[in-house]
Amino acid sequence: MTTTPPPHPGAPVPFTHGERVLLTDRKGRRYLITLRAGADFHFHGGMVAHDALLGQPEGSSAVSSRGQRLLALRPTAGDWTVKAPRGAQVVYPKDQAMIVNLGDIAPGTTVVEAGAGSGALTCALLRAVGPSGRVTSFELRDEHADVAERNVAERFGGTPPNWELRRDDVLTGLAGLDCDRIVLDLLDPAAVLKVAVDALHPGGILVAYTPTVPQIMRLREALDADPRWGLAQTTETLVRPWHVDGLAVRPDHRMVAHTAFLTTARRLPGDPGAEPVPAAEPEPALEPEPGSEP
Ligand SMILES: C[S@@+](CC[C@H](N)C(=O)[O-])C[C@H]1O[C@@H](n2cnc3c(N)ncnc32)[C@H](O)[C@@H]1O
Repeated sequence: MTTTPPPHPGAPVPFTHGERVLLTDRKGRRYLITLRAGADFHFHGGMVAHDALLGQPEGSSAVSSRGQRLLALRPTAGDWTVKAPRGAQVVYPKDQAMIVNLGDIAPGTTVVEAGAGSGALTCALLRAVGPSGRVTSFELRDEHADVAERNVAERFGGTPPNWELRRDDVLTGLAGLDCDRIVLDLLDPAAVLKVAVDALHPGGILVAYTPTVPQIMRLREALDADPRWGLAQTTETLVRPWHVDGLAVRPDHRMVAHTAFLTTARRLPGDPGAEPVPAAEPEPALEPEPGSEP
């Protein structure tokens, strides 16, 4: 099946019927709406007719019945993540970015993901692998799979031909599959290792997203116990927004302080008698260029 993705942010085409648009009010409150001819959007600041935006270029504003101006922009991937309907808790943009980076998920790679949940991470994986790659997502719960399916279809303008959603337990469904990357966002990733190790190509990368410390401990113990895994590392990503207003330049009072930890490991051939592979060294600081100022 071919897909017709909605225009991306910055595409030089006017807003059309059926498009998702992000409206921002003067206090920075944001609303994700679907533009429909003849429909109205109601919020605390009054009512805006969708027709005021249809046919207008991105970045246009509409004034509400109570005189409030709303700026209209196409949503970014991050906006979709935090504003799209959800069944299960989603992976936030900061962690999506690190999963793609630490997992080296690039065009052409084949990824198995579990569970699909609301499909937020699925969208990031699909974008990263591009049309030449492939994503297979497992989801146990039908009601979550339905949300994931809808969110992916809306983001990509249909079901991408290189995406398969399996309404199945990854513990049984992974048998017989092979892939370059496995990305786990479920309660007990350690339990998945015994099937993941057979599915992942040597040199491939496992990424596990776990909110709590006991999950990390179980996972790292299981990785250390099997010579077919190596170079494990666990990181946490903190993004601290800043308040920038005239001379008041300081960290914001609020931030998303905790989401989850990311653990990555490489699949190794694990030859009998091979030396155990230590955990990955932390990333080294950048060396200064020879001859540069100290
Ligand atoms: C936190 S949610 C995933 C959210 C998703 N990463 C996102 O960004 O939208 C975890 C999901 O894993 C699913 N799950 C748990 N164990 C599973 C298993 N063994 N096989 C497949 N799915 C599983 C749950 O039903 C749940 O929907």
